[in-house]
Amino acid sequence: MRLYLNLGILLLLFIATLHIHAENGAEGWLRYAPISNAAVANYATLPNKIVVLGKSSTDEVVGNELQRGLTSMLGRSFTISHELSEGDNAILVANLATLNRAFSVIGDKLSPDSFTIGPKTERKTYRFIILGADSRGELYGAFHLLELIASEQPLPTKPATESPSSSIRWINQWDNLDGTIERGYAGRSIFYENGHVRADLTRVHDYGRLLASIGINGITVNNVNSDLHTLEPEMILEFARIADEFRPWGIRMSLSVDLSSPQVVGHLPTFDPVDPTVITWWKTKVDEIYKAIPDFGGFVIKADSEGRVGPSQYHRTPAEAANAVARPLKPHGGFVLYRGFVYNNHLDYTDLKADRARAGYDNFRALDGKFESNVVIQIKNGPIDFQVREPASPLFAALQHTSQAIELQVTQEYLGQQRHMVFLVPMWKTTLDTDMRADNRSTPVNEIVEGRSFHQPLGGFVGVANVGLDANWMHHPMAMANLYGFGRLAWNPNLSTNQILDTWTRLTWGNNDKVVSTIDELQRHSWRVYEQYTGNLGIGTLTNILGYHFGPGIESAEHNGWGQWFRADATGIGMDRTVATGTGYIGQYPPELAKVYEDVNTCPDDLLLFMHHVPYTHVLHDGKTVVQSIYDAHYEGAATAQTYPTRWQTLHGLIDEDRYNHTLKLLTYQAGHAIVWRDAVTRWFQKESNIPDEQGRVGNYPNRIEAENMTAEGYTPIDVKPWETASNSKAVLCDQPTGCTLTTKLDNPAGTYTITVQYFDFWSGKSHFALNLNGKPIGNWLADETLPPARAENQPNGDTSTRITFPNIVLKPGDTLTLHGTPNNTEPAPVDYIEITKQ
Ligand code: GCU
Repeated sequence: MRLYLNLGILLLLFIATLHIHAENGAEGWLRYAPISNAAVANYATLPNKIVVLGKSSTDEVVGNELQRGLTSMLGRSFTISHELSEGDNAILVANLATLNRAFSVIGDKLSPDSFTIGPKTERKTYRFIILGADSRGELYGAFHLLELIASEQPLPTKPATESPSSSIRWINQWDNLDGTIERGYAGRSIFYENGHVRADLTRVHDYGRLLASIGINGITVNNVNSDLHTLEPEMILEFARIADEFRPWGIRMSLSVDLSSPQVVGHLPTFDPVDPTVITWWKTKVDEIYKAIPDFGGFVIKADSEGRVGPSQYHRTPAEAANAVARPLKPHGGFVLYRGFVYNNHLDYTDLKADRARAGYDNFRALDGKFESNVVIQIKNGPIDFQVREPASPLFAALQHTSQAIELQVTQEYLGQQRHMVFLVPMWKTTLDTDMRADNRSTPVNEIVEGRSFHQPLGGFVGVANVGLDANWMHHPMAMANLYGFGRLAWNPNLSTNQILDTWTRLTWGNNDKVVSTIDELQRHSWRVYEQYTGNLGIGTLTNILGYHFGPGIESAEHNGWGQWFRADATGIGMDRTVATGTGYIGQYPPELAKVYEDVNTCPDDLLLFMHHVPYTHVLHDGKTVVQSIYDAHYEGAATAQTYPTRWQTLHGLIDEDRYNHTLKLLTYQAGHAIVWRDAVTRWFQKESNIPDEQGRVGNYPNRIEAENMTAEGYTPIDVKPWETASNSKAVLCDQPTGCTLTTKLDNPAGTYTITVQYFDFWSGKSHFALNLNGKPIGNWLADETLPPARAENQPNGDTSTRITFPNIVLKPGDTLTLHGTPNNTEPAPVDYIEITKQ
């Protein structure tokens, strides 16, 4: 007996340890952590028996998921069966078809993918019913029940129905067949390696589970810049294996295809979409695909954009191209999602009328009504390209006889690449809630893309997710809130930011009040904060657009054909998109909205520089000048980012160590990088405008000791490019294998200080640094590139600039500070500055 007990305790300990180690984020929001005893009592009426009426692969995953989740959260065991006996108390899982088969009952009317859940008591029998319209609805109902319990919400007391707002709730993954992911920031592809579909698709199955739990019903599994050989017969058979993994989760797989496929894969002399041989080729190819993948979702097409070929080559329209591909898909129930992201990336910067933002409308407006009923135009939320602040694309209101879907970017391409915490739901809601006032009536973007405003048969949401092989899918634990939030909005765009955020936090981090309020508060404003320190007033991205779109590179957007201009010179700033004097872009909006944007006095400040060119001294609605607002916003945003690590630290002990430490590291990095951003943007604009900061902060850093001003042994100074990305525009590099030293004598008054070292961390090496005070070590560390950008970058600049901070250092006048850097491979232990701040 004693032995038994001890073993039991050991086993418990083992399970507890396992539980802690298992917290690597792989389960996302589906952790099913045990809930509090008080909460458990609220679900005591749920019977221990799960009866799933059907036996399809979806029925199987539904049963298993319920059993796994309920057992884990409620701490009692649940059985699964497929038969319901008279008088059995049970959780009954069915869909209209399986219900009818078992009981010859015609269930309620339910629209596709929807579900009803709730209790049903007959005499002494208690049943908790999950009834889906179809197998997807059944799945969504089960996940809904699990979510209610995980977030400790009450169960419905009478049957409650939920239906999705749109039929298209798709994910796009920009994965390449070689295993890389375009704009992916969390490791390599879960789908491919070396030109083939991976042998082990466990992660794909797990991804399907996560996506199904938020109502996603389709996924395009290859890059919009599609590999030209995507439609080769042997590749189709490989893709079929991916489709098999997603099928139980109610997710239809689709592919991005290149319009030249009839030529490249089919060896035809042409890919002209109206050529009869091309038409026949698409039909034969589509039939071949459906043989291998009976529930195939369709094609995503990027054409005539960023180097992709398209119908323009044959003087055909996007409608002719989309229709040629859509027609053979129609009898199989497949769709074409034709991307509205068609623009010329060789615009003439000197032409003040040239405007990339006009392109979507200019290319598609005249084609409205000319598309087949299974074609959907996939439109990015803004007219440029996923910038931190853009107005809603005017194309949404311009297509009134064509189905549309909104494309949102979950992967944070221009928004900190999952190295910065940026919660995107508020940004997406800003677009979705924009009332376009088409025909002078209420037409918010969310209702347009649902197909409601203009009575279109289809509509929906596409999220570019780009998860990777990182155990936690997106690298930053906080970034998973964006994937979760995307799914929730696609299901119901009227959910509030707070509802989405609060549920995600509870599911991901637990229900402890302090944990929930701290994380909610950190995330809630993080988009605004990121905007403040990386470019406010609708200026567009100031990331280095000729590099990886990560760190600052202010001028990279100007003087080239990409059209992401903000047209700053010594006198003013902003794109004049007015009808009166500018590019005329504003005239693409319906009149009521155009009127608001056209007038500099009514245009919201957040979009001012997107719509207008103004002097730096232009006064905003809050009374500040444009240039002072740029300075203040960047200081305010960076100051808020400084609070992230300390606020996070208040949660120590309340959440598991692994995720706590990983998140702390990222938030600390973000705090440092926010300062790199702040300094780059404010210095650049101070130089350009020649107007000093009223508060004297810009270019004036009294606590800094520039590396190039320290006494150097071995280190040599260099000019950093772009100049604004290093303090004083200089760094020092060491080219001696044994290392180099920087020394400085301090004359700070006696007291306690924080010492920060700002250095550059490349991917090409792991330099070693040692910081000493009067010969005694303060700290030593490796520049091991675990924090800066997700892409290799081997230059000292705004991408690689990184900081390490040592608090609580006691100093007195006359102390000597020494930094010893030892290069590794081609990383020359680069340093920018040391900052000494009184605590
Ligand atoms: C952005 C992104 C590209 C992508 C393109 C698209 O420009 O940087 O990587 O291919 O969008 O959406 O097609």
